[in-house]
Amino acid sequence: MSAPVLLRATGVGKRFGAVVAAADITLAITVGQRVSLIGSNGAGKTTFVNMITGYLKPDEGSIVLDERDITALSPRAITRLGVARSFQIPQLCADLTVLDNMLVATACHGQTLSFWQPARTPAAVARADDLLARFKLSEHRERRVAELPGGVRKLLDIAMALTGEPKLLLLDEPTSGVSAEEKFPMMDIVMTALGQHAMTVLFVEHDMDIVERYADRVVAFYAGRVIADDVPAVALATDDVRRYVTGGPELQAAHARH
Ligand SMILES: Nc1ncnc2c1ncn2[C@@H]1O[C@H](COP(=O)(O)OP(=O)(O)OP(=O)(O)O)[C@@H](O)[C@H]1O
Ligand SMILES: [Mg+2]
Repeated sequence: MSAPVLLRATGVGKRFGAVVAAADITLAITVGQRVSLIGSNGAGKTTFVNMITGYLKPDEGSIVLDERDITALSPRAITRLGVARSFQIPQLCADLTVLDNMLVATACHGQTLSFWQPARTPAAVARADDLLARFKLSEHRERRVAELPGGVRKLLDIAMALTGEPKLLLLDEPTSGVSAEEKFPMMDIVMTALGQHAMTVLFVEHDMDIVERYADRVVAFYAGRVIADDVPAVALATDDVRRYVTGGPELQAAHARH
């Protein structure tokens, strides 16, 4: 029996003035899949992620999570239903320690952050320590975020996204800003930690080495449209993906400028 569908987008469209950021996007992601979303700059990847989280509303079409239509729901309601994300630039409190960032994230998800319900409960600390261990962050527990290298911040941002025990994790360019030496060790840690959670993941990625190694499915966008949707070896070999995403010196130069 095939895995159940967790997320289903049907005919999703979004325009910003004359720009078509999404056009008739239809796809279903099953429980446990690792889907990489690829596409050149401006292809509509972040827009699609933002529509899943409710931060942007589609002009047309629907998005269903676990058989529940979330198209019109608020970001907060969608988070509560089990969608979490990390950002292209990690959203962390630089002056707080790693542990305190985790506790703030836990409290926000549990909606218990208030003066009379402190975030530093033994249960919250134990849960944070468990996630920190999974993400190999325990040694940084008491360090201020401002002192941490880029790769460690990225790991923390993703660990924080998991404090709410989501069903679907959206990662927007997890390896952007991470050095070539750091990127594979970092993604090994992320994917091992997510494997322990049997997490369904949609990750936006520009680095095809990362896509080939960690995705079990690739969805490619161009001008807001799906131009390929298959296992990595097949999707990355299609003419459209070579032409509009990975190939050509002009495209690579454009990526380098970005
Ligand atoms: N809030 C907005 N207002 C106006 N135009 C927008 C807005 N957000 C995105 N766009 C436009 O929509 C298109 C898709 O943008 P999007 O950020 O989704 O691309 P992307 O694939 O994530 O690109 P990148 O690889 O550069 O992150 C682009 O042309 C972009 O300029
Ligand atoms: Mg983007």
